[in-house]
Amino acid sequence: MSIILDDLAARLDTLTKAVLSQPLARIGCSKVTIRPLTLRGKPFFQLEYQQGQKVVHHNVTKSALPELFAQELDGLYLQAVLCTETETRQYVRKANGGYKCTAKGTAQRAAAPKAHDRKKEYLLAEGENIPALVDLGVFTQDFRIVRAKYDKYKQINRFIELVDDAFRATERQEITILDFGCGKSYLTFILYYYFTVKRGVKATILGYDLKEDVVEHCNEVAQRYGYDGLRFVVSDVTRDTLADTHVDMVVTLHACDTTTDYALWYAVEKGVEHIFSVPCCQHEINATIHKGGDFDLLLRHGLLQERFSALLTDAIRAAVLEDMGYTVDVIEFIDFAHSPKNLMLRCVKDRRAGEKNLRTAKELAERYGFRQTLLALAEKNAGAPRE
Ligand SMILES: C[S@@+](CC[C@H](N)C(=O)[O-])C[C@H]1O[C@@H](n2cnc3c(N)ncnc32)[C@H](O)[C@@H]1O
Repeated sequence: MSIILDDLAARLDTLTKAVLSQPLARIGCSKVTIRPLTLRGKPFFQLEYQQGQKVVHHNVTKSALPELFAQELDGLYLQAVLCTETETRQYVRKANGGYKCTAKGTAQRAAAPKAHDRKKEYLLAEGENIPALVDLGVFTQDFRIVRAKYDKYKQINRFIELVDDAFRATERQEITILDFGCGKSYLTFILYYYFTVKRGVKATILGYDLKEDVVEHCNEVAQRYGYDGLRFVVSDVTRDTLADTHVDMVVTLHACDTTTDYALWYAVEKGVEHIFSVPCCQHEINATIHKGGDFDLLLRHGLLQERFSALLTDAIRAAVLEDMGYTVDVIEFIDFAHSPKNLMLRCVKDRRAGEKNLRTAKELAERYGFRQTLLALAEKNAGAPRE
C-alpha cells in the first residue's frame, strides 16, 4: 500500500478534494479530480477524468474509493494533492512507483460570511467544475459566470431548483426527458448534468430544435463530455413525428409561440407525469382575437391587447391541462428583472381527466373569434384514448 493510499483511506470522512496530475506517458487521462458528494442521502465520491477537452464523471460509494484508487490510479501519476477539512498534503511519485509526501499545510478555511454579504446558494454554484457551461459560454475557463450570461445562469438555476423540488424525494433511478425548442441547450445540458452527476440517476434526454447548425453543435458538445444519454434532433415539433417512447418529463424554456402548445399536447397524449413549461411569444390569440363582449375594454389599445392575449393564452393552457388530468401551478419562476418572460406552468399528472374548462374556453374562443392551438388540439381529440 502506498503512503498516498494509506492517507486517503484514513481521511475518507474529511476529504474535500484529491487531484492526480502529470500522468505516466501511457495513461489516457491528464488529470483526475476526486470530490465527495451525496446521492440519495448516501456518501459517494465523484471521480472526474480529464481526457483532453473531454471530461468524464464516475461515482463510487465512499467505501469503494480506496480499492478503486489502488487498482486504477495508485502509482500512475507523478503529482498528487489530498485536501481535507484541516490540511493539504502534496505528494510526488518515486522511481519505484511509491510516493513521498513533500509538503503539508493547514487548509485555508473560508471565513464565515457576514450576514449582509451572504450570497444565495445556487444548486449550480459559481466555481463548480461544469465544463459544459464553459463550452456554452455561461462560465469562464475558471468557472466564473460570464457577466453577459448572468440572467441565463439565474434562469437555469431556478429551473433546476424547481425540478429538484419535484425529484429530490423520489428514489427514481432512471428518467427520460424531452426538451422542446432547446436552442443552444443551456437548460438541456444542465438537466443532464444535474440528474447524472448530482443525483446519480441514469438520464436520457432528447432536445428538439429547428436549427440544424445549433443541433449539430450541441451533439458535438454532448459527445465531447461523454454525455451518452443526451441527444439533439432537428425537428419541427409542430409537424414532425416525435419520440414514441416512455417519457417522464417535458420541458420548454421560451419555446416560441405554438411550439409550447405542441410540447404540452405531446405530454398530454403520452401521459407524461411532469411538465415544466416557460412559454414566450404568445402571438396566436393576439393575431386572431376581435371584440365580442365583456373584455372589449382590454382590446382597445394594441399594447393592452397584446398583454391580455398572452395572459389569456397561458390561462387557457392551464385550464386545458387541468381538464387533461394535471394539477397546474402557474408561478413566477424568476424575478421579472432577469426575464420578462417569467411565467411557468408547473404541472403534475395526478388527477382524473374532465371537460369542465374545455367548454368555458371554447365559448370564449367562439365569442372573441380567436384560435388557441392547445385548445384546438384538445377539442379535436376529445374522447380519443390516451396513454
Ligand atoms: C427563444 S429560443 C429558446 C431556446 C432555449 N430553450 C433557451 O431557453 O435558451 C426558442 C427556440 O425554439 C426553436 N423553435 C421554434 N419553433 C420550433 C419548432 N416548431 N420546432 C422546434 N423548435 C422550434 C427555435 O429554433 C429556438 O431555438
